[in-house]
Amino acid sequence: MTAPATPRLIRTTKDLQAWSDSCRMDGRSIAMVPTMGALHAGHLSLVEAAAAKADAVVVSIFVNPTQFGPGEDFDAYPRTEASDVEKLTGRGVEVVFAPNAAEMYPEGFATTITVDGPASGLETDFRPHFFAGVATVVTKLLLAARPHHAFFGEKDYQQLLVVKRLSRDLNIGTEIVGRPTVREADDLALSSRNAYLDAPARHSASRLPAVLRHVVVALEAGAPAETALADGRAALQHEGFEVDYLSLCDADTLATPQPGKPRRLLVAARIGTTRLIDNMAVAPGI
Ligand code: PAF
Repeated sequence: MTAPATPRLIRTTKDLQAWSDSCRMDGRSIAMVPTMGALHAGHLSLVEAAAAKADAVVVSIFVNPTQFGPGEDFDAYPRTEASDVEKLTGRGVEVVFAPNAAEMYPEGFATTITVDGPASGLETDFRPHFFAGVATVVTKLLLAARPHHAFFGEKDYQQLLVVKRLSRDLNIGTEIVGRPTVREADDLALSSRNAYLDAPARHSASRLPAVLRHVVVALEAGAPAETALADGRAALQHEGFEVDYLSLCDADTLATPQPGKPRRLLVAARIGTTRLIDNMAVAPGI
């Protein structure tokens, strides 16, 4: 069965479960793309990969309150459901799941999923609430839709590893698939939060991937990590960023890099009031 051009909008977990059950009864595989909406080309690349992989695609749109801390941008986060559904039309998406907060967190909700391992450090040092909120909502979404595959962007690299770990540890039975970051022409990673950047901040923001690429080249040429990272931090500060972290980690665990194993360079930095994150692969060191 081909997906209708306009996706069906589902608002309740009960209806989503019924849809998933009927797909599975018909022997159709399901792929899910969890999002918070404000869809851009990065999300659409996940949808394309999902549609290529499975018979039925569900995209969730839910701005999840529990992953925002006090003083963060929950209220300001763009909510663009109608145009999101329009962007998904004709892309092989069968269902858009767009619940409200009361549906996801009904009165008396008392369960939180916490993940250690890849959730330690980096984002957690600056947004301690974040991964419990993400892990809890992603677990709920996966258990409701019961997808065979779920697609996440590598732009949120630590989130991708956290979701892989929880799916494995809780035997959720969904293959978690990471997809490459999609970038603007000037290399800035696509993010719904880029909409917050005014023209001067947007100009400075493009320096972030340029500095990252410079640090990757230095590391792969054998520069000591402490030196390359210190130079990278100084370069970002020079460009007007306040750096939360610029760290080199083992690509699979986010622990200290090991000789001969793939590495990942991860950054979070603020330009004005906007916080940007990005990351790049680094070849194994010796
Ligand atoms: O990456 C996001 O958009 C969100 O963190 C996610 C995975 C949809 C959970 O709310």
